[in-house]
Amino acid sequence: MDRTFLMVKPDGVQRGLIGDVIARFEKKGLKMVAGKFEKLPEERVLEHYAEHVEKPFFPGLKSYIMSGPCFLMVWEGKDVVAITRQMIGATNPAEAAPGTIRGDYALEIGMNVIHGSDSDETAAREIAIHFAPEEIAPYARIDEAFLYE
Ligand code: RTP
Ligand code: MG
Repeated sequence: MDRTFLMVKPDGVQRGLIGDVIARFEKKGLKMVAGKFEKLPEERVLEHYAEHVEKPFFPGLKSYIMSGPCFLMVWEGKDVVAITRQMIGATNPAEAAPGTIRGDYALEIGMNVIHGSDSDETAAREIAIHFAPEEIAPYARIDEAFLYE
């Protein structure tokens, strides 16, 4: 089954959105197989955002992402990367469609509530950065017979 890495960022935690974010993905039929509440250490922020470290917005991004705890998750499901990216919405909440998480809950790019991996390769890389294999607990959800044809 496909996997992705999702993370409620510090603004989402402070605004009490963890439960709502989880509920959206649960109701969709996706399955959380790992989760932890954590303030990210600097070395994992640098690894996670390796593609952005040289960009002008990185210092702001780093201080925002380290400003408080995040809620980190691994989710499973068919096409989970594409489905969760759609449900998260455009990077800039001002451009995110209504009904998406960023479209419904955020206003500006620097406070966009949630991170989601953007490809299967990125997902595998990010899961390995943030979770040890033994922290991931696969299981069968009893409604899967009514989710997958
Ligand atoms: P994410 O990685 O957090 O899921 O977001 P994304 O793929 O939609 O966007 P990405 O291009 O990977 O950017 C990562 C995060 O950096 C912040 N950002 N700020 N001020 C800016 O111009 C700017 N651009 C990006 C956002 O928090 C974005 O989610
Ligand atoms: Mg990204």
